[in-house]
Order: sequence, then C-alpha cells, then structure tokens
Amino acid sequence: VRVGVLGGGQLGRMLALAGVPLGIEVRCLERTPDAPAAAVAPLTVGDPGDPEVLAAFAAGVDVLTYEIEGLPEPALAQVAASTPLRPGLPSLHAASDRWLEKQLFAGLGIPAARTLPVSDRTGLAAAVRELGPCLVKTRRGGYDGRGQVAVRGEADLPAAVELLPAPGGLVAEELLAFDAEVSVLGARGLDGAVATWPLPGNVHRDGILRTSRPPAPVPARVAAQATTYLTQLLTALDHVGVLALELFVVGGRLLANEMAPRVHNSGHWTIEGAETSQFEQHLRAVTGLPLGCPAARGSVAMVNLIGTAPDAAAVLAVPGAHLHLYGKEPRPGRKLGHVTVTAADEATLSARLAALATVLP
Ligand SMILES: Nc1ncnc2c1ncn2[C@@H]1O[C@H](COP(=O)(O)OP(=O)(O)OP(=O)(O)O)[C@@H](O)[C@H]1O
Ligand SMILES: [Mg+2]
Repeated sequence: VRVGVLGGGQLGRMLALAGVPLGIEVRCLERTPDAPAAAVAPLTVGDPGDPEVLAAFAAGVDVLTYEIEGLPEPALAQVAASTPLRPGLPSLHAASDRWLEKQLFAGLGIPAARTLPVSDRTGLAAAVRELGPCLVKTRRGGYDGRGQVAVRGEADLPAAVELLPAPGGLVAEELLAFDAEVSVLGARGLDGAVATWPLPGNVHRDGILRTSRPPAPVPARVAAQATTYLTQLLTALDHVGVLALELFVVGGRLLANEMAPRVHNSGHWTIEGAETSQFEQHLRAVTGLPLGCPAARGSVAMVNLIGTAPDAAAVLAVPGAHLHLYGKEPRPGRKLGHVTVTAADEATLSARLAALATVLP
C-alpha cells in the first residue's frame, strides 16, 4: 500500500518510519528537497497548493493524507474523487480556520473560550471592549504561537492591528487564566471504530509546546469528558485517521482550544509509551487496517528540543531516554526534535526527567 502525505516535515518523517514494518510505503509531497521526511521517504518536490502538482502526486498513491493544514480544498476535492483523502475534507475544512473550528465546537456543545471573528479595526476594538483581555489570532495558518498577539490594554492594539491583513481574517479569544493544558488524541478507523490514548498534560512556553506527560492532571471524570468531546468530533466529521483536540482546564472545567486532523506533537510520547503509536495508528486507519491498542506502557513523558540541539551522548546517558532528531537546521523557536523518557513508575520518571533537564540547552 502506498500512502501519499501532503507535507514532509517531522510528522511526515515519523509517519514514514512507522510505515516500514507494516509494509506501507509513505511518500511525501513537500516544497523543499531537504525537508525532514526526505531522509526516510521518497519525496516529490512541489507545492501541495498547486492543483496540477497535487493531481500528479495523487495518481501515484493509493490513499492521500496530510501532515499540514491550509491546503487548497477545491483541488483536493477533485483529486479525492479518484484517490481517497483521509481524513476527509470536512475535518480539514474545520481545522484550517479557527472561527469555523469554534463554530463546530459550539454546534456539538463543546465549550470553548468566548471568541469573536474580527475583520477590521472597528471589529477589533469592539471585540476587545466586549471580551476584555484577549488573544488575537489569525484564523488561518498559525502554528507554534505564530500569528498571535495578546491584547491586555490599549497599548497592545497596534500590534494586533498589524495582524489584520492576514488572509481569512482574525479571531479574538478571551485570554484565559487556565490551571492546565491537556490534549486528547484518538483515531477513527475506516469501519468507524474509535481508539483514544490516555490524555497528556501539556506545558507550553512562548506559545510552543515544551512537554507532554500522561496522565493529565485532571480527575478521571474530566478526562472522560475530554474523550467524549473527541469522539463526538470524530463521529460528526466522519473522520478517518488521528485527531487531536487541545483543551484548557479552568476551575475543573474543560474549554476546547483547537483541533488538528492529523498526528500531533502532544502524541509523540506514544512512539515508545503506548502499545500503538499515533503514527502507526494513523497509517492503520487511513489504509483500512484494524486499529491497535492505545494503552500506555508504564510511565512516560516527552520533551521537545527547541532552537538548539542538545549533546546526543548526554541525552542518551539518561536512563529511559529516547532521542528523536528531525534533521533540521537549528533556529530560535524551531522544533528540532524531541526526547521521550520512559520508566516503570512515576517517581523514577520524575528523577529521569530531572536528570535530562540538566543536559538540555
Ligand atoms: N485563549 C487563550 N488564553 C490563554 N492562553 C492561550 C489562549 N489561546 C492560546 N493560548 C496559549 O498559546 C498556546 C498556543 O496557542 P494555539 O494552540 O492557539 O496556537 P497554535 O499556534 O495553533 O499552536 P500549535 O499549532 O503549535 O498548537 C496555547 O497552547 C496556550 O498555551
Ligand atoms: Mg495549539
């Protein structure tokens, strides 16, 4: 089976690696020849946004999936008529736009921070008056906290105004003082079966994910609620593949942040930490294979490597540390890799994470 992945970043790279033992050939379509996936997968160099490039790429694979969002939907709808696209267009459509995403949540009764769409200066001022302190975000194309401006008072408005030319416009979201961030990831198979992983608690700094560690710091009832929200989304979208939902925990309540219709950074711990990794599960789902068991094995946490690469030998000297480098040039704020630390119990894991922290840049 040949799976075509739109995008060839680290997610494409890890999908390709997961395909090898299953006999699934992963190919990637990516603009730059030296993208992370190139080291492990045949890479077609081209713009996934170009309908002709897309059609030619699709013709050489059995099923199409993606590791990026913001893809050209009309062109994808055309190729999907002959090559199945999984997850399908409804998932991609909703996840590509923060306002549509919030409307989808609202329609399913999934609570989220108060959010208003903003398309001009007047709308921006009105949203800030209505919401108070807020986070202004581009509706499309943001990642790792890019395209976001916190507005706590008048003085912050000019920076938010600068976001206004963004294609698709903006949203303003109430700025939450959350107790924790969690995410829930799961997959839905071609047959409609759903498998969800234990939730990790996630820590971000400067808008970038730093660590993910299951189980999330919430009562079982709250974790079950998050899993129900994810399952509702999977079903409503007729989703096939992995879906991630990021949530804030505020006073014991869950508020949805955003979703990703693909494998997700907060699921990287599943490579060593779960019976079935998110990458294997995504491939199983999109190729119509049965889903695997998502249970965690022992204690596990994932730490992102951002901006500067650590000394590999020092990382690997930490017991239970598993190093994943993406083959990217170091640059401030760039995700260069991650380390997953495993242990038999939580106390040992905490000690190992403390040891790891001393050798990270
Ligand atoms: N309404 C909010 N109130 C408080 N903090 C927020 C809010 N929205 C986002 N943040 C913080 O900023 C982080 C990044 O925001 P968000 O998930 O919207 O951005 P992103 O650029 O799409 O990130 P990514 O795609 O890397 O997950 C969140 O994980 C959270 O820490
Ligand atoms: Mg996010």
